[in-house]
Amino acid sequence: MGSNFVRYVLERHSGVRVVVYDKLTYAGRLDNLRDVFDHPGFGFVYGDLLDEERLTWAIREFEPDVVVNFAAETHVDRSISEPAPFIETNVVGVFYLLEAARRLDVPRLVHISTDEVYGDRWGLPPAEEDECFRPGSPYAASKAAGDLFAQSYWRTYRVPVIVLRPSNNYGPFQYPEKLIPRTIIRALHDKPIPLYGGGWQKRDWLYVGDFSEALWTVITKGVPGEAYNVPGFNEKSNLEVVRDILRVLGKPETLIRVVEDRPGHDRRYAMRGDKILGLGWKPRTPWLEGLKKTIEWYLVNRWWWEPLLGDKFFAVDTPWQ
Ligand SMILES: NC(=O)c1ccc[n+]([C@@H]2O[C@H](COP(=O)([O-])OP(=O)(O)OC[C@H]3O[C@@H](n4cnc5c(N)ncnc54)[C@H](O)[C@@H]3O)[C@@H](O)[C@H]2O)c1
Repeated sequence: MGSNFVRYVLERHSGVRVVVYDKLTYAGRLDNLRDVFDHPGFGFVYGDLLDEERLTWAIREFEPDVVVNFAAETHVDRSISEPAPFIETNVVGVFYLLEAARRLDVPRLVHISTDEVYGDRWGLPPAEEDECFRPGSPYAASKAAGDLFAQSYWRTYRVPVIVLRPSNNYGPFQYPEKLIPRTIIRALHDKPIPLYGGGWQKRDWLYVGDFSEALWTVITKGVPGEAYNVPGFNEKSNLEVVRDILRVLGKPETLIRVVEDRPGHDRRYAMRGDKILGLGWKPRTPWLEGLKKTIEWYLVNRWWWEPLLGDKFFAVDTPWQ
């Protein structure tokens, strides 16, 4: 999402300078930014949120008007097998960033949270921004903690934080552990497509280009201290998503394999979006158009994902872990 936003800003808003500060974990490859490295408006700093000294140096050096925090451990399955890095980056890392923003008087900080903080909305109305948090996975719990710290820094210290809670994003450059790229790549190899518990769980899908526009809208029109949901208004079961991908690729549904459900699997995420709609944003990319663009991108950019094929979270050479 961060690299898509960098591209969006450099293409659409001339004169804006973007500096990326990134630890380059398994998910944060420089290949995601290869095409903007020579852009005069782009800069890159290798750094960890938990490295207080370097973080302080970077903020002092570049004096940003706005800091956007995308950095996180993001994969729910990894949070179930190894939660510690999630607490380190998504909780302690966010705390370090908030402290730096407080000490250095950062004029505006936009923190990217998630719809998963509201927990399972099965049988419940879509969550509004002031809904209680009921996170269901270690990932969601770590994001909920970061979100709450961000809110507390506004209330206690008046650090000008805005929180964004997007729904499931999809689009180019998404690490192939996530449902849509994993399905595309496995289908291209005619490998079975695993679906947790039958795939009837529902998610709300938002094209990443539309999220970039939502973020820009909030940077320019959002109110410090507020949180904004960013829904896609596009609820689909995981089974529907996988079926649509197979149909676009011309692959048979016999590739689908139902596997044992993920422990604590939330059945549905759903949010209202009245606040962000009120700022004049709405998602513009229809589902099938966004999906076709995404599939096309993975077909054309094999150089980007082929080196990742050994990762056990989507490896095409193993039936399924
Ligand atoms: N992908 C989604 O569907 C989705 C939905 C809602 C919210 N979000 C949130 O949006 C943000 C971006 O998600 P994504 O899917 O693009 O993530 P990603 O996993 O693809 O990328 C995360 C980035 O953060 C960097 N990073 C991780 N730990 C770091 C640290 N300690 N210091 C500095 N950099 C670090 C990584 O190197 C990588 O570049 C995250 O905060 C995530 O929780 C994602």
